[in-house]
Order: sequence, then C-alpha cells, then structure tokens
Amino acid sequence: MDSFKPENWTASSNECVKISLLNSSTDKITTFNPSFTYPIYGDSEQIFGFKDLELILAFESKTFLPLVNIKYSEQLEKDKIGNVESNPLDTLLEYLPKSAENLVIKDEKKWVETFTNERDNDSVWKNFQKNGELIAKHSDTTKKNQSLHIYKMNISKVKDLHSRIQIFALFFIEGASYIDENDDDWDVYFLVNAETKDILGYATCYKYWFYQGAQQFDSSTNYKYRSKISQFLIFPPYQGKGYGSILYKSIYSYWLEQPNICEMTVEDPNESFDLLRDRNDLQYLIEHIDLNEIKLQVQKASLTQNFPSLCNLKLEKKQLHRLTEMLLLYLGK
Ligand code: ACO
Repeated sequence: MDSFKPENWTASSNECVKISLLNSSTDKITTFNPSFTYPIYGDSEQIFGFKDLELILAFESKTFLPLVNIKYSEQLEKDKIGNVESNPLDTLLEYLPKSAENLVIKDEKKWVETFTNERDNDSVWKNFQKNGELIAKHSDTTKKNQSLHIYKMNISKVKDLHSRIQIFALFFIEGASYIDENDDDWDVYFLVNAETKDILGYATCYKYWFYQGAQQFDSSTNYKYRSKISQFLIFPPYQGKGYGSILYKSIYSYWLEQPNICEMTVEDPNESFDLLRDRNDLQYLIEHIDLNEIKLQVQKASLTQNFPSLCNLKLEKKQLHRLTEMLLLYLGK
C-alpha cells in the first residue's frame, strides 16, 4: 500500500531540476539546482506522479544552446489516481525556446554536434562583434589577467541567444518574468571572457522616456531617458569572483557618459544586488569626489542638502540617500 502514499510520488521541483553548464574548452561540467521554480511548477514547487524524477537542462558555455531531458524510475498510472501532474517536461518546454535551432530535446549527440559547430564558427562571438557595442574591457585577475569584454546588444540583434538564457532569470531572480523581446527599448549587456569566449553573465536593461516638464518638451527634441537595470545575473559557476561588480561598474560608467541618460534605476534589487551596488557606488564616489569638500559640508551640517549637486552620479533619490549615510560612516561621522 506504500506505493499509493502521495508523499512517495511527490518531489520538490527545485531538487528535480538539474542545470549543468558545460565548459567545452576544458570539458568541465558544473551542475547546480535552481533557487526558484514556482514560475514554472507553481507556488508549492512540487511535482507529483513520478519516482526518482530528474529534469535535466544542460547548456554549453559559449553558445548557451540548451539540451533538455527527463528521467524517472516510475510513473504513477493515470487511471490509478486522478489529477496527476501533466508531463513536467512539457511544462518546462513552455519556458524554453520554441525553435529547433535554439533547443535540443533529449538527443545528446545532436546537442554536441550543434554546439560544436556553432562554437567552431564563433557565431555568438561574431554577433557580439558585428551587432554589439563594446562598452568596456577589464582584466580578469582570477584568470591570468585574461581580458573581459562587456557588450551592449539591442534585444532585436540577440533574440536567439536571449531565448536560450532567459530561463536563468526565472530560476535565480525572485519575481522575474520574461521581457518582451519585440520591444526594442530593451538592451542586453553581456560579460564575456574574450579569450575563451565563455559568457559569464548578463543584464537586461530598459530605457524610459523621462518627462522633464512641458517647457522642456516643447523647446527641444533632445529627449532624456531614465535607464533601468531589470534582470542582473552572473551564471552560478562564476559567482563570487568579482564578475558581478565588473558588469555593474561597466554599465554604470557607460550610462554616466551618455548625455541623454539622466537617471539610473534598478528594478526590485535583492539583498545581494543591493550589497554589490552599495559597495561599487561607494567605491566610485570615494574615487571621484572631493572628500575635503564633503567634510566641509558635514561641518556645516549641509551635506544631505548639497550632496546631489556635489556628486552628480545620476542616481535616484533613495540610492543617493543610502550613499550619503554610507559616506558618513566611511568618514567616521
Ligand atoms: N575572489 C573572491 N571573492 C570575490 C572576488 C574575488 N576576486 N571579488 C569579489 N568577491 C566577493 C565580493 O567581496 C562579494 O563578497 P560578499 O558577498 O561577502 O560581500 C562576493 O564575492 C560577491 O561579489 P561579486 O563576485 O562581484 O558578485 P557576483 O559576481 O557573485 O554577482 C550577483 C552577484 C549578481 C548577485 C550573483 O550572485 C547572481 O547573479 N545571483 C543570482 C541572481 C541574482 O540574485 N541577481 C540579482 C537580482 S536583483 C536584479 O536583478 C536587479
């Protein structure tokens, strides 16, 4: 009778989904579980009706071509109990690319052949070079000073790659949903190792028109924009190595230089992103601001009031306020 107990046929979808990232230069495979699967399998994050269920999702590090597969030892017969979960592979497929060029189902041999072909043609890298804007270069201190490139790609030029990676946002960013890839106001910023061509992380960003009042609107067609970081992600095997800071600083410095961008915002930052942002904003501030002037303003008790004009960081009010507090702590006030 044990075999009819519901708990024997119920599994956590966070544990069943196994994501692998294959580094095809070193043949090293890193496997990890998602943090969230509720956007796909519902709030309870459970799958019913299988024993030893595994939903395998493998990606290759330069093309991010996904391979999806399902394995289980037993499936509950549908006529024995009602309400059996529909096939969890079909559910997962709803969130994966629809075209056969961007997804391989079950056929591992075909997956290896397809990504090897794409990788040897450097197709993703060539697209970055042809259609992207190289906004920054950094040295990777964790990898013999290999070069890191940050490319800005309009979504219209990177739909295939984005369709392959976007499921990571659902798996790792709480509350994330898919962006409208037909809206050309979306840009995707990619962090890539220029030597190995491995893609390390990405950020989706949106540009909002910034209304500055009727007078300004009537007098000039030189419109201003507010830029927003929407989804920001470093792929799990590369986290905790400083790459998130590099991607953030690159986007931030680039936006600071754009005359038509007047404010930078972040959509629903989580605790770890707040930490990354605070640390980098404070470091930028300390490097670029006249600390003597700040001390003077502190003495005159007018720092909060004069801070925005002193630093001109294009930050929203809330973040400016946090920075003022952090700066005071840093100065020991
Ligand atoms: N060696 C070892 N550790 C380092 C190095 C280094 N060279 N450089 C930095 N670190 C440390 C940092 O000091 C930091 O430590 P702390 O957390 O104790 O302060 C830690 O590593 C993380 O800093 P980074 O490495 O720069 O950040 P990371 O590359 O891990 O990126 C991020 C952070 C984006 C949050 C990443 O973990 C991630 O993608 N998480 C999953 C998705 C997510 O939560 N995204 C943000 C959601 S909010 C939004 O999208 C707007």
